[in-house]
Amino acid sequence: MLRFSRSSDALQSSAVRELMKAASNPDMISFSGGMPNPGLFPVQELDEIISALPLRAKQDGFQYGPTPGYPPLLESLSAYLRSKGLPVDDNGLIITAGSLQAIHLVTKVFIDPGDTVVTETPCFVGAIPVFRYFQAALRGVPLDSDGPMLRDLKQTLEEEKPTLLYLTPYFHNPAGIVYSAERKASVMNLVKGRDIPLLEDDAYGELYFDEKDKPLTVPMKVSADPSIPICYTGSFSKIFGPGMRLGWLLGPKDVTARCELAKQGVDACSSTYTQVLADAFLRGGYLPAYLERLRKAYARRCQIMTEALKALMPEGVKWNAPKGGFYLWLQLPEGMNATALLEIAAARGAVFVVGRAFDPEGQKDDCLRLSFSHTPEERIAEGVRILAESMAVLSGKSSR
Ligand SMILES: Cc1ncc(COP(=O)(O)O)c(C=O)c1O
Repeated sequence: MLRFSRSSDALQSSAVRELMKAASNPDMISFSGGMPNPGLFPVQELDEIISALPLRAKQDGFQYGPTPGYPPLLESLSAYLRSKGLPVDDNGLIITAGSLQAIHLVTKVFIDPGDTVVTETPCFVGAIPVFRYFQAALRGVPLDSDGPMLRDLKQTLEEEKPTLLYLTPYFHNPAGIVYSAERKASVMNLVKGRDIPLLEDDAYGELYFDEKDKPLTVPMKVSADPSIPICYTGSFSKIFGPGMRLGWLLGPKDVTARCELAKQGVDACSSTYTQVLADAFLRGGYLPAYLERLRKAYARRCQIMTEALKALMPEGVKWNAPKGGFYLWLQLPEGMNATALLEIAAARGAVFVVGRAFDPEGQKDDCLRLSFSHTPEERIAEGVRILAESMAVLSGKSSR
């Protein structure tokens, strides 16, 4: 019998994942995938970019590149990050294979088995297996609508003495919230002086629905005391395309130097071809207009879903009002379990992701995530109706 590593033992498929296989049925209304709608990809811009690429850039694209990134993209990305106020010159920058790889590399260079990682509850589902793979103990801090609850965060930092703190302040996946400026300042105050690296995950910050909320998306790293080791990660996935598999890590130079060494042994370099395309996208000035298009499209989708929820959800169901991003987070009525609800809803033709998947401690299942980014607009209300009917069946009010 083959003997697998203890690390890979942590990578078990869950019952939830088995249920999610139903989502591949083309008739299924899926609110589960946290991915952009294919109709929103900048395909026309990409055609223009590819046809205008000089021979040298095409040749570069087929070649291995330096581990930290394709130099022209490091330059254009630095300009973009500087325009957001980020301290690019005092930090190291590396291009990663999506921000998920940045999460992986930071975890790899900081975590030994048994170390504690503090996350939010709920937490980005893709990060949990990374922390588990490196055999970290996970402790979650609950969120309210402004960010992590400070008393819990303080107590957890003091009691657990974690090795890493992982936060997703901007249009949280799955909670849909954005931290308030006051809460960000308080979090930085709490972290200061403890020598705990803070992994600040900003995959959705550009996707605010209303210009007036833009100030909420200013990264903590912009104003943080430089003594706080903030490892800031962002991604091209939601502002260009996840198939590009490009993200970045901006962090203290000793951290990015270690991450670069770690990356050498993982994939040597991120795809040079997609880095050439991302560089041309930034340099060609395509991003601002594309972002305008995305913000409008996601705001409209969010509104359609919110209106359907208002019209159809039974009493006792609560949800947030997202100011950006892809997600609505539903709190179920007392006693209702999301996994049991998913079983009924999937049989009726609609799926979502259950709350338990996002609980770092794998317990809390009284919530669920609805993603409005990918579902065809005209099917959103129908999916919400199936959800409402499934709730009625589960609470014994209907057998239809
Ligand atoms: C909060 C968050 N962080 C990171 C990622 C990883 O994205 P990528 O690796 O595609 O950049 C995602 C993807 O959905 C996400 O929601």
